[in-house]
Amino acid sequence: SPVSPHSADSCCIVGDLAFKKTYPALFGLFRNGFLPKNFQIVGYARSHLDLDEFKRRISSRIKFHNEKERELLPAFLDKCTYVSGQYDQPESYQKLRTAVEHVEGIVAGKRHRIFYMALPPSVFAVASKGLKENVYIADGTNRLIVEKPFGKDTQSSKELSILLAKFWHEDEIYRIDHYLGKEMVKNLMVLRFANVFFGAVWNRFYIHNVQITFKEPIGTEGRGGYFDEFGIIRDIMQNHLLQILTIVAMEKPVTLDAEDVRNEKVKVLRAIQPLTLDDVMLGQYTKSADGKEPGYLDDPTVPKGSVTPTFAAAVFYVNNERWDGVPFILKCGKALNEQKTEVRIQFQDVAGNIYKDIARNELVIRVQPQEAVYMKFMNKQPGLSNAATISELDMTYHKRYSDVKIPDAYESLILDALKGDKSNFVRDDELDAAWKIFTPLLHQIESSKVKPEPYTFGTRGPASLSAFVEKHGYTRHSNY
Ligand code: BG6
Repeated sequence: SPVSPHSADSCCIVGDLAFKKTYPALFGLFRNGFLPKNFQIVGYARSHLDLDEFKRRISSRIKFHNEKERELLPAFLDKCTYVSGQYDQPESYQKLRTAVEHVEGIVAGKRHRIFYMALPPSVFAVASKGLKENVYIADGTNRLIVEKPFGKDTQSSKELSILLAKFWHEDEIYRIDHYLGKEMVKNLMVLRFANVFFGAVWNRFYIHNVQITFKEPIGTEGRGGYFDEFGIIRDIMQNHLLQILTIVAMEKPVTLDAEDVRNEKVKVLRAIQPLTLDDVMLGQYTKSADGKEPGYLDDPTVPKGSVTPTFAAAVFYVNNERWDGVPFILKCGKALNEQKTEVRIQFQDVAGNIYKDIARNELVIRVQPQEAVYMKFMNKQPGLSNAATISELDMTYHKRYSDVKIPDAYESLILDALKGDKSNFVRDDELDAAWKIFTPLLHQIESSKVKPEPYTFGTRGPASLSAFVEKHGYTRHSNY
């Protein structure tokens, strides 16, 4: 494993999208002692920055929890250097290679290089070629981390995979979906496969429906150009939410080995029928009620009259013995009333009920904010009443694990990449199976310019959302 004090490990971060997430995550790992001793970081992008300015930009994005952490910053910055160059010129990459060799220096032992591409998709292919031909190390290990978007549909994603595969072996490619690094998403497999009582009821006989929700209280905020080309289905649903669905629905892998896990994930994706227009509802936000927050179409980077959805809900069915007939309702939207990502498993009605008013049990895994696992269940109304009332078994993380700092998703995934553990990265066939579910729908939405339903910035979403969710089986209890 590269996480060894006896090797020279370097990480080339290519592109300038890295300041927001990648450097802070690397600092997080450094702070907690997870970066190998000889680890060095080389930034590479087009901007001409001197080293001081480069380090200033890194520092400005790092959040410190206390003074002690702040004191560690200079030692971290000592590991960082910068090279500016073009994405399509071999001479530039040769400059990068010289810089990498220089920082790896005289440390004996095997060399490990991680290439992290934080780049717009238009230069993905050319940069992966430049790196392979000029900076790849023949007698060491090389890993290439890539960020979405991985294409826009089945065809473009395939083309990208073919281009990448020309230069990089699938074993070397780490496709990041940062939701797979979130603590509660990582917890899903433990909940399911390490608890007899969840395992026993995890099927169509006990589960009525599953809802997976992503809500964000912010709009496009200057990312309108990118967003308008992709829309909420590609930005959130096809990757982050579908990944969560897959883990909720997959069979127990033979082992925790990355290939065993991903084999099971692919099977679930292949069992989902492609979506049609009847399975979805689309929305687009308008300005907030007080007029302070702009509507999607007010964003100057969004083309006039755009019908790109900023909200989507869709129902999925997994056609296998475990899940036949169970709706998985995925919902995601920007400019809503709150930030929240959760998985809500609603169980079946109690058969032969003898109580007056009872609600279905629910198991909720709250991914963010405030990680929690809680269960809504019926309990006797305490005191002289015999009525059944809804109560909660609640494991909110900040109460239960008050001394643990939950790592950022990128910290967790970069550490996995350092160790060579690919179980939380997306495999090429998994990506292809995911695109196949959405591609016909996306093409239909785009060719017939389906008009999204407007909703006001800061609300729960389009007015028809509740009816959509109820139509697909979710029952909201009046006491909730
Ligand atoms: C990204 C999307 O993948 O995820 C963004 O492109 C979105 O539009 C972000 O805001 C949400 O991630 P998180 O970790 O803040 O929930």
